[in-house]
Amino acid sequence: MARIELQQVSKRFGAFEAVGPLDLVAEDGEFVVLLGPSGCGKTTTMRMIAGLDDASGGKVLFDGRDMAGIPPADRDIAMVFQSYALYPNLTVFENIRFPLKMRKMDRKAQEGAVRAAAEKVGLADQLSKRPSALSGGQKQRVALARAIVREPCLFLMDEPLSNLDARLRLSTRAHIRHLTRELGVTTIYVTHDQAEAMTLADRIVVMQKGRIVQTGTPREIYERPANAFVAGFIGSPAMNLMRGRIRAGVFRGEDVQIEGLEAEDGEVILGFRAEEAQVLSEHMGFTGCEIGAPLYALEQLGDAVMVLVPAGGAMVSVKAERSFEALPGDRIRIVVPPDACHVFDAQTGRRRDRTAPSQSWGF
Ligand SMILES: Nc1ncnc2c1ncn2[C@@H]1O[C@H](COP(=O)(O)OP(=O)(O)O)[C@@H](O)[C@H]1O
Ligand SMILES: [Mg+2]
Repeated sequence: MARIELQQVSKRFGAFEAVGPLDLVAEDGEFVVLLGPSGCGKTTTMRMIAGLDDASGGKVLFDGRDMAGIPPADRDIAMVFQSYALYPNLTVFENIRFPLKMRKMDRKAQEGAVRAAAEKVGLADQLSKRPSALSGGQKQRVALARAIVREPCLFLMDEPLSNLDARLRLSTRAHIRHLTRELGVTTIYVTHDQAEAMTLADRIVVMQKGRIVQTGTPREIYERPANAFVAGFIGSPAMNLMRGRIRAGVFRGEDVQIEGLEAEDGEVILGFRAEEAQVLSEHMGFTGCEIGAPLYALEQLGDAVMVLVPAGGAMVSVKAERSFEALPGDRIRIVVPPDACHVFDAQTGRRRDRTAPSQSWGF
């Protein structure tokens, strides 16, 4: 196990700066998720940690030791990728055993370790098969077993669930969460999927265009996104983001007015989450904090209904009771409590609530 630290690490491809310079720490035993849209530099960062690529600048430290010049095989890491990277001619058993053989572990011990790892990912009865006879989920579990068969100091996982269908993604995600916690090995996990990041991470590092925009626990990032980009990226659905202006604590935008905000005057992006607003019945008096607009669509969620209305230059989603009914075009009123609102600068996107941001943020 190890504490991983990146100090001012950057990567250029010709004139293009793909990453950084960025600072990042994964504490010993911590599960850190690098989250961001495609192309933001996650894989590039991961490859520099693995030693598959050299950094253009900065240092990668494992337990304080500079890794410059140390090849991937000597970094004591285990990697799991989107592509399973199994050897097609080897059986499941032989695939899982591969890293042990490379390390010339005692044969008897090898067999025990392979069986234990296969057991942990539910593949104990598949050991004699070749990868071609397995489903995608099983293949990824072989890759997972191969990663955990020895205890490395670091797991690096790059979009390991991307090739799986929705159901397998959930079960494999649970395997990953359970096994990494059980083993207590430091893990750096890359994904563009906010739900994976929220469910797996001890700490999320949100990246955008090669930079870190926020670092925090899933809860911190969900509750106080540092900017409109993070707000619009985290949560399902993502936070509603309306455009408008604030004057004397009152936000006004297209078909929306919200009073009682603790923010300075100016052009803003105002955010709130679907579950924090409420659909009002038509006969209630004006509340001072509401959206009034025609229904665009209803989406049945099973336990609730998602109500979609256009307001503030956006399509706003609000959760309503599952018994809620309305027709497209019906006028809908939605009350948005001011203390559920997040205020971001319209130009920079940065959070501009009066409350001081916590120190864990990446700015
Ligand atoms: N070998 C390379 N040569 C040139 N550009 C690259 C190379 N690898 C990645 N890039 C560019 O660097 C950026 C970050 O890529 P990547 O780290 O793969 O993003 P992510 O994994 O977040 O989707 C992208 O714009 C990508 O096109
Ligand atoms: Mg990638």
